[in-house]
Amino acid sequence: MSDGIITMAYLGASILFILALGGLSNQETARRGNYFGMTGMAIALLATIVGIVTENYALMLGCIIVGGGVGLLLAKKVEMTMMPELVAILHSLVGLAAVIVGFGTFLDHSVAFTGVDQTIHNVEIYLGVLIGALTFSGSIVAYLKLSGKVSGSPVLLPGRHFLNLILLLGTIWFLMAFISEAQAGAGMNALMIMTAISLLFGIHMVLAIGGADMPVVVSMLNSYSGWAAAATGFMLSNDLLIVIGALVGSSGAILSYIMCRAMNRKFFSVIAGGFGTTSGNATAGPSGSADDVQPIDAESVAHMLLASKKVMILPGYGMAVAQAQHSVFEMSRKLREAGIEVGFGIHPVAGRMPGHMNVLLAEARVPYDIVFEMDEINDDFPNVDVSIVIGANDIVNPAALDEPDSPIAGMPVLEPWVGKTTVVLKRSMASGYAGVDNPLFYKDNTRMLFGDAKASIDDILKNL
Ligand code: TAP
Repeated sequence: MSDGIITMAYLGASILFILALGGLSNQETARRGNYFGMTGMAIALLATIVGIVTENYALMLGCIIVGGGVGLLLAKKVEMTMMPELVAILHSLVGLAAVIVGFGTFLDHSVAFTGVDQTIHNVEIYLGVLIGALTFSGSIVAYLKLSGKVSGSPVLLPGRHFLNLILLLGTIWFLMAFISEAQAGAGMNALMIMTAISLLFGIHMVLAIGGADMPVVVSMLNSYSGWAAAATGFMLSNDLLIVIGALVGSSGAILSYIMCRAMNRKFFSVIAGGFGTTSGNATAGPSGSADDVQPIDAESVAHMLLASKKVMILPGYGMAVAQAQHSVFEMSRKLREAGIEVGFGIHPVAGRMPGHMNVLLAEARVPYDIVFEMDEINDDFPNVDVSIVIGANDIVNPAALDEPDSPIAGMPVLEPWVGKTTVVLKRSMASGYAGVDNPLFYKDNTRMLFGDAKASIDDILKNL
């Protein structure tokens, strides 16, 4: 395949990736965005395999079959609720690839660079390995935290900012050493020591981040994996990899920033790994007793709903666990048929991944025009007769606003308690992801409907 055709194919693929990102920014165009992305990736793979690879076809085919098979199996098997863990572990592979390509490029003497070119090439290698190694180790720790294999609470070592500074200075020092040694044909030791430092930094950075901030960490590692891919692109002189890496890197950074804003966290704090994280857990620990709340049954909820003019449905992680979205849609349909105004309120970090609730509601065919973002509806709660909280906890926790010592202090939340009545559907008094008690459950105008969310909604449906 001629260079011209490869360049054209790469250009086409790049445009498709940009269109994919554009499509993914809106629910109505997200499916189209995915198709653009898949087509772009198919073109990119084809152009690379047919046009660039010239040997070792059998080995490559074997790797594609094994890698593709594992990917297919995982994608089919993984539950929606396990998506963040999967994403985290996949990011670790991008990081590992960047490290391996970095070492491989350093050891490959088939292309000889001299003078400034050599320095630039070595800096590319160094940065690629650095970003790759910290993405690799950070993503593994994120995976372990998200899957509950290690505790989600932040590990705040004494003098951790000092430690980070030392690690940073260490990488700069070894960069100098690497550049000068590499000119004399050495440099492997400096590269290996820096890799160890970066691995340590990745572990330390993610360990210092508390459970409630993990969504930002996942999108931040997504961004890092993009930059690692871009660095790999520079090492391999592959323009498409540079473009894709930069797209992933910058979109991940923008998403992290948006999520930080949604959770009232400082972007730099998260990037720097727990900078500004307090160990404040004034309200953390076991939640309160079921004796202190006002339980309600499904029949009474149905009557309450039929007597209202405006109902707001606030889904959270528990709706995903219970797979209650289809029943919830059915309930909203029945209520709307009865002339009741129904809306859905979505918190930006509801569930376990960005857009989690939107995906579930879209799957259940809830119309987009009744799905509102938190900012659009928070001021409207005083006009709401009944808010139904379905398996949500942290995202409707007033402690975020009222208790400065709470681990989720400052995180904007949905505020159903200023409406007439709130009904909370959950199985027990257990706390949510952030591990904090929720004062909403004890308010005078809150009723608790205990049980699995799907069973409870089906029960309400029977009584509507
Ligand atoms: P959570 O605060 O985690 O609360 C979910 C609640 O659902 C739990 O209290 C649980 O109580 C209930 N539940 C679980 N299974 C249920 C079932 N089958 N039926 C009924 N209820 C069930 O969820 P949230 O309010 O959506 O908040 C999300 C949290 O996750 C935030 O802290 C956020 O920072 C964090 N997080 C978000 C993301 C992203 S990107 N969205 C990623 C990682 C972490 P019971 O056990 O009593 O039923």
